[in-house]
Amino acid sequence: MSVLTIDAGTTGVTALVVSEDGGVLSRGYEEFPQHYPESGWVEHVPEEIWQATLAACQSALDTAAEAPSCVGITNQRETAVLWDRRRFTAPRRAIVWQDRRTAGICAELRGAGHEQRVSEITGLRLDPYFTATKLTWLARNDERAWKGVLSGEVAVGTVDSYLVARLTAGARHVTDASNASRTLLYDLRAGRWSPEMCDLFDVPMTALPEIVPSYGVVGETEPSEFLGLRLPIAGIAGDQQAAMFGQNCYTPGTSKCTYGTGSFVLINTGFTAIAPEHGLLSTVLWQHPDGALEYALEGSIFVTGAAVQWLRDGLGLIDAAPQSEALATSVPDSGGVVFVPALTGLGAPDWDPQARGAIFGITRGTQRAHLVRATLEAIAFEVRDVVEAMATASGTTLPELRVDGGASANNLLCQMQADQLGVTAARPRVQETTALGAAFLAGLGTGVWSSTEELAHTWQLDLRFEPGERDEAAYRRWRVAVERSKGWAEL
Ligand code: G3P
Repeated sequence: MSVLTIDAGTTGVTALVVSEDGGVLSRGYEEFPQHYPESGWVEHVPEEIWQATLAACQSALDTAAEAPSCVGITNQRETAVLWDRRRFTAPRRAIVWQDRRTAGICAELRGAGHEQRVSEITGLRLDPYFTATKLTWLARNDERAWKGVLSGEVAVGTVDSYLVARLTAGARHVTDASNASRTLLYDLRAGRWSPEMCDLFDVPMTALPEIVPSYGVVGETEPSEFLGLRLPIAGIAGDQQAAMFGQNCYTPGTSKCTYGTGSFVLINTGFTAIAPEHGLLSTVLWQHPDGALEYALEGSIFVTGAAVQWLRDGLGLIDAAPQSEALATSVPDSGGVVFVPALTGLGAPDWDPQARGAIFGITRGTQRAHLVRATLEAIAFEVRDVVEAMATASGTTLPELRVDGGASANNLLCQMQADQLGVTAARPRVQETTALGAAFLAGLGTGVWSSTEELAHTWQLDLRFEPGERDEAAYRRWRVAVERSKGWAEL
């Protein structure tokens, strides 16, 4: 038996067909356009995400030796999507998690004294990152679309809900608990939408999806809409939570870092939602079919892989992301250059939507290799910042960090990471753990696998990076540079 898995990420959709032994039988990938209508705004066209999903699934299925028995979905989280419930057309573009337009709404709510209550209920904070203030913005600024929301014609959700609606031809309007927990509208401990938060952010509860467990059958794909296939949809999780599942981080204290557009470090805290402190978030990991919720502490870093992408597309310093490793290795250090990639503000642990990217320490001797190396160092420093916050919050240090995602293929980065953290970085053979996790959830939901113990046997080590010497002076310079990048957009 095999499982089809859809990973609808921020810049593209990956589809894998995964076999019973956790191996990847085939894959498809399709990018979709990013839209930046104003400074700090990031939007996606829902139909373009759907078309990319169809194309990625088609190419994975074309090369798979056997037909899958079920499908799992994982997705970029927090992005606010609106669509017509009957026709699936979107009355406007989706507002992406990276979008900073609601910094003013967040400041207004903070000024009115709501931050503490918001954090108590949701485990999150008032930041444009999360879904709710994007919806508040729509309620205030897009009268036409919002009228549809209020009348019930238009549904509200995150990317997982939109995909389920498309896959089932509108039969299901659902989201799983891990995605719901990223909206600022979900009561983390009660495990349901919070009327108080819906009221605060002006979101009608009737427009929101039904919250379902992260695994177990929630509906079937409609063949006329989805490549002629009728498959049970049996697993849904936000991409970072799915990566935890794919990395077999099933027990308290286990942790992973996924290097994608941004980087997200999560540590499993078991059945307890820990109060978020030190710039971290408390979030649902997954919900079991019996309703039980497991939680994690999360450090969300907005720009890591996207900084390497900017070196390629914005500056033309490299032709392809993998080239960054060779170029960075060609110099012994960054020559004193420090790059703060706050291109969409700062996330954990500093949280400043008004921060902007900054490069310090440039001299006449600075070469492109120094800037490329400074970019990889910045990623390692950013992850160190959140891992240190986790150690302070939990009172323990990590025994090791499992790494995955596109940039984890970069050996120099993994070594820098182990050095900066002072702990081992362990890289699995399959680094597409986000997609793998959604496959595991769907397979667990339909009996392909019977337990997490069985899944744990599928994890195979590729390489371990042991910590070596670390340059504390470079890290101190990094922290000074981070402070100087703050508040830039307000000047
Ligand atoms: O919270 C945002 C996250 O889900 C996006 O992940 O992999 O698209 O960078 P990614």
